Amino acid sequence: MKGILGSPKFLDPQQYISWRASLTLHSWPSCSMATGKSHHTMSLEKMNYLQLNEEPLNTETKEINGILMTKTISDNWDKIWNFQAKPDDLLIATYAKAGTTWTQEIVDMIQNEGDIKKCQRANTFDRHPFLEWVLPPPLNSGLDLAIKMPSPRTLKTHLPVQMLPPSFWEQNSKIIYVARNAKDSLVSYYHFSRMNKMLPDPGTLEEFIEEFMNGRVLWGSWYDHVKGWWDAKEKHPILYLFYEDMKEDPKQEIQKILKFLEKDLSEEILNKIIYHTSFDIMKENPMANYTTLPSSILDHSISPFMRKGMPGDWKNHFTVAQNEKFDEDYKKKMAGTTLTFRTEI
Ligand code: PPS
Repeated sequence: MKGILGSPKFLDPQQYISWRASLTLHSWPSCSMATGKSHHTMSLEKMNYLQLNEEPLNTETKEINGILMTKTISDNWDKIWNFQAKPDDLLIATYAKAGTTWTQEIVDMIQNEGDIKKCQRANTFDRHPFLEWVLPPPLNSGLDLAIKMPSPRTLKTHLPVQMLPPSFWEQNSKIIYVARNAKDSLVSYYHFSRMNKMLPDPGTLEEFIEEFMNGRVLWGSWYDHVKGWWDAKEKHPILYLFYEDMKEDPKQEIQKILKFLEKDLSEEILNKIIYHTSFDIMKENPMANYTTLPSSILDHSISPFMRKGMPGDWKNHFTVAQNEKFDEDYKKKMAGTTLTFRTEI
């Protein structure tokens, strides 16, 4: 365990397994765990997924304070807003598709001092609860997981800064924010919306570009999100990172995370982390590539979660006219901020 200034240490795998099992049993007293057999023949995750019916998932949206959210998030908003953060929580905050999963894997590798087996103890979304996300029953919502998870916890959120539960500010919890340039975020978000059956249908890319520019997408305006968190770092312990920098020089960016977490690792472990968290390796890691979810939730045959992982991929998608219009609008929306992005490296 760590104090606010100490180094984070994650649960050991055995602790994790009993914690996770207690959650699942709690939610599914009638599942075949009762026979005692399934424990050895089927993973708890898989048992949960088998209970999902194949009906279309609810993709309704509902605003909270002018920000578009899923209806399930809106309906649970009071509970999410009142979430109790702790001083030793670490929060990974991003706008959707900014490199969250990548950062989660880096952080987990750091916390587990490069022990790959420990990092493969569970799916990304179980290792680091996604605070506001509500999955279809019987899957646990991020909030439930977070509440039941022993400290020190590492959590994920896509919430814009003004919607972060106030306890994070009160408890002075550390936050890593990762930002990615708008055009690559948009393209990644578009393909993700096509394959994720819990998100609204994005329509054509042309239509999605309009929605993105108007902030009419889940979690609201990209522009307000990146600027809001940029300003917040003046008053709070926030490490603000960029996807493009991580791609260009992972060593340098991982070292920033190490410093922020007050951790010191050998050169050998650092190199191991760089290798294990590279796009090609993560793409093949079922505990990090979201392939353990059923295709009724994420359909990787439409577009894989680990899709391209390349700054500048937007050039393969935007037409010249779309690009000109986007740039003109971008200038207006980003006027007056010191925050700048690279759209290629
Ligand atoms: S989510 O659903 O919002 O949490 O998605 P998120 O993890 O933020 O972003 C997914 C995009 O990040 C890419 N990715 C990576 N890029 C480089 N290196 C590594 N290791 C890596 N891991 C994930 C992933 O491929 C998505 O980007 P696109 O452009 O769609 O490929």
